[in-house]
Amino acid sequence: MRKILVTSALPYANGSIHLGHLVEYIQTDIWVRFQKMQGNTAYYICADDTHGTPIMLMAEQEKISPEELVEKIHKEHSKDFEEFHVNFDNFYLTNSPENKELSEDIYKALFKNNKILEKEIEQFYDPNKKMFLPDRFIKGECPKCKAKDQYGDSCEVCGSTYNPTDLINPYSVLTGASPIKKKTKHYFFKLSECSDFLLKWTKSGTLQKEASNKLEEWFKSGLADWDISRDAPYFGFEIPDAPGKFFYVWLDAPIGYMASFKNFAEKNKISFDDYWKNNSESELVHFIGKDILYFHALFWPATLEYSGYRKPTKIFAHGFLTVNGEKMSKSRGTFITARSYLDNIKNPNFLRYYYASKLNDSMEDIDLNLEDFLAKVNSDLVGKFINIPSRTSGFISKYFENQLVPISNIEDEKARELVLGIVNMKDLVLEHYELRMFSKLIKLLMSQVEVVNEFVSLREPWVLAKNENQHIVNSDLHQICSTCLHAFRLLSIFLTPIIPDLTSKVALFFKETPYDTFSNIEIEANAINKYEHLIQRLESKDIEGMVDSGK
Ligand code: MSP
Ligand code: ZN
Repeated sequence: MRKILVTSALPYANGSIHLGHLVEYIQTDIWVRFQKMQGNTAYYICADDTHGTPIMLMAEQEKISPEELVEKIHKEHSKDFEEFHVNFDNFYLTNSPENKELSEDIYKALFKNNKILEKEIEQFYDPNKKMFLPDRFIKGECPKCKAKDQYGDSCEVCGSTYNPTDLINPYSVLTGASPIKKKTKHYFFKLSECSDFLLKWTKSGTLQKEASNKLEEWFKSGLADWDISRDAPYFGFEIPDAPGKFFYVWLDAPIGYMASFKNFAEKNKISFDDYWKNNSESELVHFIGKDILYFHALFWPATLEYSGYRKPTKIFAHGFLTVNGEKMSKSRGTFITARSYLDNIKNPNFLRYYYASKLNDSMEDIDLNLEDFLAKVNSDLVGKFINIPSRTSGFISKYFENQLVPISNIEDEKARELVLGIVNMKDLVLEHYELRMFSKLIKLLMSQVEVVNEFVSLREPWVLAKNENQHIVNSDLHQICSTCLHAFRLLSIFLTPIIPDLTSKVALFFKETPYDTFSNIEIEANAINKYEHLIQRLESKDIEGMVDSGK
């Protein structure tokens, strides 16, 4: 049995969860549910990423403390995830005592290992606001094309990148003041000294092919030391022995994985060391978006290596979500929050199913085409999958007192083959889950759903039912309908990591408790409850409502 600690990236606590985020949390959730159903010990750990300048300024505007703001957003995020059935074992916050202690300890270890460098640098400073300005808070004219109001790191008009100090007529986004250049002492993590370790580590099978290619590019251009400090005022942890200096949010954010796990482990009497000490036999798996690969594949393993901890076993990076083929956009109404989806479409199974049908193990972007979404979930889930019990269960209730013919009593060769064929798919199904080939998996399972539907159409139970001889136990009618329901049940068990809430209703229909292990495949149900519709069609007006409310 494996022991696996699984994480999704920690969402920033300065905004709402949106459908882009959900690609990641749903993908991870499916994988963790799969691991648990296989009998492995898997913990799904996450937290809100709460530190940094944007949160501090947002709290200031709302006239509350950053802690209060973060607490409020944490509640919203928790509720969003819960309603999408994203089942964290722990969803914590990075501004926690556990994270403070771990971040300080790790920093001290890096310091002791001679991996911290103090250096004076020059930065833009807002004299009115009396604070140093992060790049995103400085605007000005692009040094290349002279476009106005461009950010301090890159130009949205001509696409060139530069330093904030290159901007023409720079101004502070906060006060409009012209920023002045000011000297300040910063702390750097000497990443440049870690290339030998990192080169070796990145070849250890931890990364996808595309990710290692990306890393090779970065190695070629050379690893720069990493500025891990920020000046007060800053919402974060103060650096030990450096008054007025704080850890940059990206230093303590990944340590937040450890801190959230520590919080969880202490509550549940699990050993922290089993999962984090060097040479630990457990696995550490990070799901992330491709935009934060640099942090997870370079800074993070180097931080762990030089502070004496274990390194990640796998980093699974996914691509970005586009909606209708384009970047999510407020003006087109395609910047869709989790809440807006829930208010309008209500059923989270649709999105979970659709994302699964698109996801694989690569870093390619995935598109949520809203028309395709509507057509696909209605056709696959309502039209085909739920169609199986809705076409067959009525006869079982009406003539056979809700009792099913046991699989071993099914005499019809074709019918038995149908059921056993699905049972025998188990290894392939598990392999697709393990390798995150969810789209392949959905194709495989849906092709079986179609086979079952073809079987129903061919055997026409509604025609058989007209003959009174068919109303006796073990008749063809009884056998055919039982066959389809056994098949439906098996397919539901296989689909459980993807649509757990829908299949828990299926379990209830078969008088069972929710499926929590794939061993359920080896046993069978012998009766049903009267069928009640398990899912409503998705209506195009709900999608329109969602898009309109996002504008
Ligand atoms: N706080 C950092 C992560 C710290 S991890 C130690 C962060 N937060 S985020 O809220 O911007 O993103 C959280 C995760 O969601 C990231 O993995 C990011 O790639 C992913 N996504 C955010 N927008 C996305 C899309 N539009 N599409 C797919 N994934 C996206 O980064
Ligand atoms: Zn420009």
